[in-house]
Amino acid sequence: MRAWLVENPGEAEALNLGELKNPKPGPHEVLVDVRAIGINRADILQRKGSYPPPPGFDERCPGLEYAGEVSAIGNRVVGRSVGESVMGLIGGGAYAEKLVVHERDTLTIPPYYDYAHAAAMPEAFLTAYRALYLEGGLQAGQWVMIRGATSGVGQAALQLAHALGARTIATSRRGERLDELTERFKALGLSQAFDIGLVDDDQGVAKSVQERTGGAHLIVDFVGAPVLADNMAALRDEGRQVQVGIIGGASAEINMGTLLMRRLSLIAMTMRSLPVERKIELAQIFNDRLLPLFESGRLRPVLDQTFDFEQAVAAHKAMEAGDHLGKLVLVRG
Ligand SMILES: NC(=O)c1ccc[n+]([C@@H]2O[C@H](COP(=O)([O-])OP(=O)(O)OC[C@H]3O[C@@H](n4cnc5c(N)ncnc54)[C@H](OP(=O)(O)O)[C@@H]3O)[C@@H](O)[C@H]2O)c1
Repeated sequence: MRAWLVENPGEAEALNLGELKNPKPGPHEVLVDVRAIGINRADILQRKGSYPPPPGFDERCPGLEYAGEVSAIGNRVVGRSVGESVMGLIGGGAYAEKLVVHERDTLTIPPYYDYAHAAAMPEAFLTAYRALYLEGGLQAGQWVMIRGATSGVGQAALQLAHALGARTIATSRRGERLDELTERFKALGLSQAFDIGLVDDDQGVAKSVQERTGGAHLIVDFVGAPVLADNMAALRDEGRQVQVGIIGGASAEINMGTLLMRRLSLIAMTMRSLPVERKIELAQIFNDRLLPLFESGRLRPVLDQTFDFEQAVAAHKAMEAGDHLGKLVLVRG
């Protein structure tokens, strides 16, 4: 089968279309004929050599989000059958024509969605669900700030928080991106993008958040070091920050006194390194709780652009340019 491989880490051109042996499903696994692949920041980091996949995955082949058709099943598989459409997350190797995955680690594609839209769902919505509810403990009526809200995961977090009754604050470094996000959500038939939009400039957003909401109950942060102090000032007492990304930088000084006196919590999470049992748990959450929200139109994947499977280099360059608003997806014809 064909697969995108990185033999020598580096710029986007380090990706080369090569050949790998067809994988074979184990007893509890399904073989998926990959039709679409979601591009993620983690793929860029892996390509640059700074984010290897978990043990057991080929270090050369990136890709952690796929949609496709089950083309063979292991002899103990009971819940999936050949010909079924599935999507999901995998530790690595999704930039390929085929992959194998545990049957219970697959997600059901909501009705009426094609493979390109399906490949835009798992990473964004599962990461957002876990950050908001499993780690962040968000409740209806509470204020949540999504710092870096125009990101793929950020948009999913806005949708989920709104659908489940929380109030949302969205930040972006550029005001026009928030306007564009509002238009994009409207075009998808979603009632609202966010309750408050704030531009993330040198002044920070804490003062506005405190004045307008009394402080956020929860912050889901993708930006990292440059905004840590401002986030702590934007939280109300006993507020929580869930760290999902560090796109702006990783090292910051933290005032432990503030953390202590205001009883704040700082929680970090990653999806990729989760053991298979935890991934299966999340897959079940998607199938039980999120699928109905997609079916009723309260959640919608935001797809920015598709590229042919052969255009992975261009897709990586687009992600690094940073002008996209939503997911970038590779599609196999
Ligand atoms: N922990 C996990 O398991 C997990 C899972 C998935 C993703 N992530 C992380 O979550 C983050 C978002 O991922 P994504 O795929 O949704 O990203 P994406 O769609 O490419 O969006 C990145 C967003 O970050 C914002 N941003 C803020 N500061 C930035 C900076 N200094 N440089 C570049 N962009 C900046 C940009 O918004 P504006 O231009 O509008 O400001 C941009 O829309 C990434 O850091 C990713 O690695 C983590």
